[in-house]
Amino acid sequence: MGVAHCERVQVIRSVAAMQRLARRWQRQGERIGFVPTMGYLHQGHLSLVRRARAAVGPRGKVVVSIYVNPTQFGPGEDFARYPRDLQRDLALCRGEGVDVVFAPSDADMYPGRAKGCFTTFVVEETLSRVMEGRSRPGHFRGVTTVVAKLFNIVQPDVAVFGAKDWQQAVIVRRMVANLNFPVRILVSPTVREPDGLAMSSRNKYLKGDLRQQATVLWRAIQGVRRHLLEKGRPAPVRELRALVRGVVATAPQARLDYVEFFEPETLQPLGMVGRGAHMALAVFVGGTRLIDNARL
Ligand code: PAJ
Repeated sequence: MGVAHCERVQVIRSVAAMQRLARRWQRQGERIGFVPTMGYLHQGHLSLVRRARAAVGPRGKVVVSIYVNPTQFGPGEDFARYPRDLQRDLALCRGEGVDVVFAPSDADMYPGRAKGCFTTFVVEETLSRVMEGRSRPGHFRGVTTVVAKLFNIVQPDVAVFGAKDWQQAVIVRRMVANLNFPVRILVSPTVREPDGLAMSSRNKYLKGDLRQQATVLWRAIQGVRRHLLEKGRPAPVRELRALVRGVVATAPQARLDYVEFFEPETLQPLGMVGRGAHMALAVFVGGTRLIDNARL
């Protein structure tokens, strides 16, 4: 399928080298497409890479960043054990015709952090307060800060984010609009396993029976969709929450963190939920926290 790009992918480790190359490309009029990731790549990430390639064309440059960003993890979260496999990621990127993998070190991304000299952050103050932001205080401060830094380093014309992390994509769009980053944000659909589980690097944590129990998120979404379809008119949030709690309760090791129903672009919570509304939920399955969302 498509053009075979089996030759090579350039790996850049230093911020200064990446920024130099990006500036050279910009001077030469090359379009830059960018996919920020934390690595341990799967088909969801690769679908974003293909979208970036389609956006910049065969002569454009596609950059994938692989960086497990410490500032978006809370204390007690999985930063230290987050899965990492750079060699495997590079092979996947090579297969997709990625031009550059940018994989910086912590010391280069957060100079002076250990000495208390990294003190500037980018904070979105409204959309970041709900859902993931409420459950994971400081998470979006880390995301907006690292994404802003990455945009300044890679200088992309287009950056692709996944609908899998819907709130993140909405917040990045807001940041770009508010701070005049000269980049177009594309949001690409969630890629799922055959049984509906959204692909995620964290699915690696799901051992034994937990993998099957993790389908509760998708089953909850499908359950709400079916309910609305059968009802034929909007339903009160209360009714849908009860339905979701019922589905989650069918998995013995699943615990609902939150489920919200909201207007997709503003994240404004809804009282009555009908077609076009958006739903998002977070569920602990064993010790693993999973998220999913969908348009209803
Ligand atoms: P990460 O979880 O690695 O995800 C990188 C990108 O891939 C995000 O835009 C995410 O929404 C997208 N993605 C993940 N799973 C997907 C799936 N199943 N289908 C489609 N897209 C999917 O999100 C992050 O990293 C970080 O917060 C980051 C933006 C890189 C900042 O550190």
